[in-house]
Amino acid sequence: MPGPGGDSRLDAAVDTAFRADGPLARAQPGYVARVGQREMALAVARAIACAGLHSGPADPEASATLVAEAGTGTGKTFAYLVPALLSGGRILISTGTRNLQDQLYHRDLPRVRDALGVGVTTALLKGRSNYVCRHHLRRNLEEGRFERREDIAVLRRIERFAAISGSGDRSEAPGIAEDAPAWARATSTRENCLGQDCPQLADCFVFRARQAAQQADIVVVNHHLFCADLALRDEGVSELLPTTDALIFDEAHQLPEIATQFFGRSVSTRQLVDFARDLLRIGIADARDAADWAAASSAIEQGVRVLRLAGGRPGRLDARQLRVHAALRSAVADVVATLPMRLLEAAAERSRDLARLAGRARELAHRLQHWLAMLDGETAPAAPGGVGDAEMPTGADEASPAILWAEVHQTGVTLHETPLSVAATFRRHREAAARAWIFTSATLAVAGRFDHFVTAMGLEGARTLRWDSPFDFANHALLYVPRDCGDPASPDFARRVADAAWPLIQANGGRAFVLCTSLRMVEQQATLLGARIRDAGTDIELLVQGQASRLALIERFRALRSPVLVGSASFWEGVDVAGAQLSLVVIDKLPFAAPDDPILRARIDAMRSAGGDPFRQIQLPAAAMALKQGAGRLIRSEADRGVLAICDERLLGKSYGASLVKSLPPFRLTRDEREALDFCLASSGAPLTATPATSADRLPQSPS
Ligand SMILES: Nc1ncnc2c1ncn2[C@@H]1O[C@H](COP(=O)(O)OP(=O)(O)OP(=O)(O)O)[C@@H](O)[C@H]1O
Ligand SMILES: [Mg+2]
Repeated sequence: MPGPGGDSRLDAAVDTAFRADGPLARAQPGYVARVGQREMALAVARAIACAGLHSGPADPEASATLVAEAGTGTGKTFAYLVPALLSGGRILISTGTRNLQDQLYHRDLPRVRDALGVGVTTALLKGRSNYVCRHHLRRNLEEGRFERREDIAVLRRIERFAAISGSGDRSEAPGIAEDAPAWARATSTRENCLGQDCPQLADCFVFRARQAAQQADIVVVNHHLFCADLALRDEGVSELLPTTDALIFDEAHQLPEIATQFFGRSVSTRQLVDFARDLLRIGIADARDAADWAAASSAIEQGVRVLRLAGGRPGRLDARQLRVHAALRSAVADVVATLPMRLLEAAAERSRDLARLAGRARELAHRLQHWLAMLDGETAPAAPGGVGDAEMPTGADEASPAILWAEVHQTGVTLHETPLSVAATFRRHREAAARAWIFTSATLAVAGRFDHFVTAMGLEGARTLRWDSPFDFANHALLYVPRDCGDPASPDFARRVADAAWPLIQANGGRAFVLCTSLRMVEQQATLLGARIRDAGTDIELLVQGQASRLALIERFRALRSPVLVGSASFWEGVDVAGAQLSLVVIDKLPFAAPDDPILRARIDAMRSAGGDPFRQIQLPAAAMALKQGAGRLIRSEADRGVLAICDERLLGKSYGASLVKSLPPFRLTRDEREALDFCLASSGAPLTATPATSADRLPQSPS
């Protein structure tokens, strides 16, 4: 019999699972009963139970919406998996990135399921572009028109992979880089998928993955997919929602930003070029006599070239820059004029493909014109999602002002319209059905308060809870700020970082992450550290982001004796390597967001006009969260020890540095290289020696 806002049987089962002599303890080596972890699991169980009970919002403990923060490494994964697996309901779990999705699905989920001995079915669902499309793969191989010769060889390898793969998931294709350009020719897009008309439907990997998800008790997705689908991009998640009892978002701090990307709309020259190519191919195949298809197609490609040239140097342009950019605006208008609307309307009856092309042309023209009109302030922002706005279920965030911007790439331009807030959309979805919504991460609160996240996501009335890290940072971890790295803006900064990092890496026997704030820095550190490893002739092995899939890199890191992994953003969060195997984390500089980000700039402007302090209220909290996430890779169990080196003077020199230090767990702080080297020598596998911190060395505890 469920008590007020709970299900006592579920509570009891969850409680038992986490006991020191329970099933998790038997399955997990080094298991320690952690109070915060058990409490979080009970709170998750309660939220799931509440969703079925329709208990009113009066009792905050009886809310089906939970926002739960617990320090990095405390075991949030078990804390939500256990109640999810024991609830008997259908649960959707969303992670921040695809590599965390793989980590959860291939490692943690089976482990906990086996430990609990429950017969629950699970499925992994990714975005369409992750799966081989047999139809497009075959068509492209048969047509054999490639920009790069090497694409043919890669496509042949993909063909062999597709023949034996059960999932068709590109992250499982051995020896083919996940970002190989040829994948674009071996996967489908929403626009070019033939859907029910496809001759290969019975063997379609996307279709199969979605079917498996429909039938599974627990489905693992990622935030990009979830948000894309909420924005009506048809990724197969919304069809799961009606039968879902609870949604669990891990790394939930990433959601507002990811949702912002997807709830907006964009249109790119890539779409125009794809359209031009399909126009030529389908026109000639289905209505050769009706028009000069080659001329129609090349007119569009020419318009795209002019638009790209007008864009100037690669980078991002905000609304202010765009309003005075006459060349770009007229190039957009001109490219609209090249879309052969009348021709296609007339030819549409000749084949299904031609009719589809006519629809695509209308959609492209509409998007481009809408974007131009928005820029001139002539029209209200559109609701999120694709065109066919008439089909929108209800007005989503049209109340939220939109940010207009453009991104100029090496080969093209993308025009964006992004909502300033996604709160209304989430609120609407949350209110649509009685369902639990659980948000968790190590970084949701700012100075102990959840207002920021709750407001951004429209979660008024949610139950909010937080637990500090259970680990002894003061004695087990050292924060080292090297003396000689200097100004991060100086030209030899990368070399100075490598100079500071290398002795630590050697003393530690590798077992280090070098986390960089930019891809350029990843390249630089890879080169600099690679040279030092060669010169020193050590057996330290360098792994660099991009060499292989992220999952493969993490697996190699876990397996090697003395690995060093150099990576950027996607390795800062959620990645779990426990023990001495990861006992040194080097961070190049404070992770402030790139100032050229037009969305950030628009937010800053909005905050300033509202009388706020954008640096203190937006940029600093974001940097604090990112730093805390990066630092959180280090200490992941009671016995872990390690050194965090942050090569940025500003942490101690600038007035805001103190608040960043305060947001970190209470590390012991040093600037003394010798002390850092000794700590590395002691912690890289050597047994624990007690080096109690004096109170003067201790950093202030983060406010709670
Ligand atoms: N009670 C426990 N005792 C010992 N180890 C545990 C316990 N619970 C989880 N673990 C292990 O601790 C590690 C960290 O867990 P997990 O990855 O879930 O942390 P997290 O809270 O999600 O951290 P982050 O915020 O960095 O993602 C994992 O290797 C996990 O298997
Ligand atoms: Mg985690």
